Amino acid sequence: MALEDLIRGWDGEEVVVHHDDPTSSWMFIGVHSTVLGPAMGGTRLTSYGTPAQALDDVLRLSGAMTLKHAAADTSFGGGKAVVAVPDIPARGSPARRTLLLRYADLVESLHGTYETAADMNTGEVDMDTIGERTSHVLGRSKAHGGSGDPGAATAMGVFHGIRATVRRALGNDDLEGRSVLVQGLGSVGSRLAEYLHEAGAVLLLADLDAARASALADELGAKVVGADDVVGTECDVFSPCATGKVLTEATIRHLRCRIVAGAANNQLGVAEDGERLRDAGILFAPDFVINAGGVIHLAGSERLGWDDARTAKRLEAIGDTLLEIFEMAERDGISTAAAANRLARARIAVARG
Ligand code: NAI
Repeated sequence: MALEDLIRGWDGEEVVVHHDDPTSSWMFIGVHSTVLGPAMGGTRLTSYGTPAQALDDVLRLSGAMTLKHAAADTSFGGGKAVVAVPDIPARGSPARRTLLLRYADLVESLHGTYETAADMNTGEVDMDTIGERTSHVLGRSKAHGGSGDPGAATAMGVFHGIRATVRRALGNDDLEGRSVLVQGLGSVGSRLAEYLHEAGAVLLLADLDAARASALADELGAKVVGADDVVGTECDVFSPCATGKVLTEATIRHLRCRIVAGAANNQLGVAEDGERLRDAGILFAPDFVINAGGVIHLAGSERLGWDDARTAKRLEAIGDTLLEIFEMAERDGISTAAAANRLARARIAVARG
């Protein structure tokens, strides 16, 4: 689709389309909604087949951020950015620094309508570089005045979300002896596994990187599951913490779990997969609600002046929001994914007056 058609078909407020000749990159910033506050969301650094594919990603992802912030009650709106490059410049290289500084100037030109953070292929060192040119960046390193990598907060939010979902589906939130399969043991999944281990869960761990899975399994006394065997493995809770679109018509019929609750973004292949999970008797914790710990941590500690105790309470409240969503889904006879959308949109509608 042409760039113009994609933008006309979008329901957001503002989109910045910037072609940067010196770095041969396309930079897109989607400001989907500022109803609840400045648009906040990460910067994805990656390659695409065409600029239209990159724009399509930014428009879709910025809309999801609006829902995430509304459900998490962060006082931010939804935004997202993509820096689309022919090749991703190596970390620490002069080319990467040049690219990030030019991108930072673009963020700064919006005067705070959009606040950026890390996302796919960007991290706190990149946020430090961006922070040299703009103050509208979250998640810089602590040495540079930021609050660092939000992975631990995301994992803690998912942990509280799993407990709430277990309570709803299985009657109480005691994780002792419950089997939890964590798919993806990166920044979020590895920490989540540690929290679950401390709570007495029986852990099953899977990662494409088999050595990473074995090392963590040895440390936590867990069992390793092959990356290709995740879907058919029996467990109480399946926790996708790797990639999106793991819940599809093809996979849902093979799932052998009572609950799906994990950090990965966009876990449903299509919206109807929320209904398919419901029909299969599987309780799904909607991803943009359960994985909001990172944005809660960034917004709270860097913009709203919260101390650690207040942030911890707000991470715990992810469980309460999920319980509200499960209640709404049952009352209205809809999927939990649809209920989460309804809750977030209702909060935006109230703010709009
Ligand atoms: P990461 O890149 O640190 O770790 C991902 C891990 O998943 C890696 O160990 C990788 O080898 C593994 N993996 C990839 N594909 C796999 C597959 N098919 N099967 C098994 N393992 C696979 O990513 P991170 O930061 O831990 O994020 C995980 C997910 O959570 C992503 O979908 C991300 O978008 C989402 N998320 C992360 C947040 C954060 O604060 N880091 C916040 C909200 C969502």
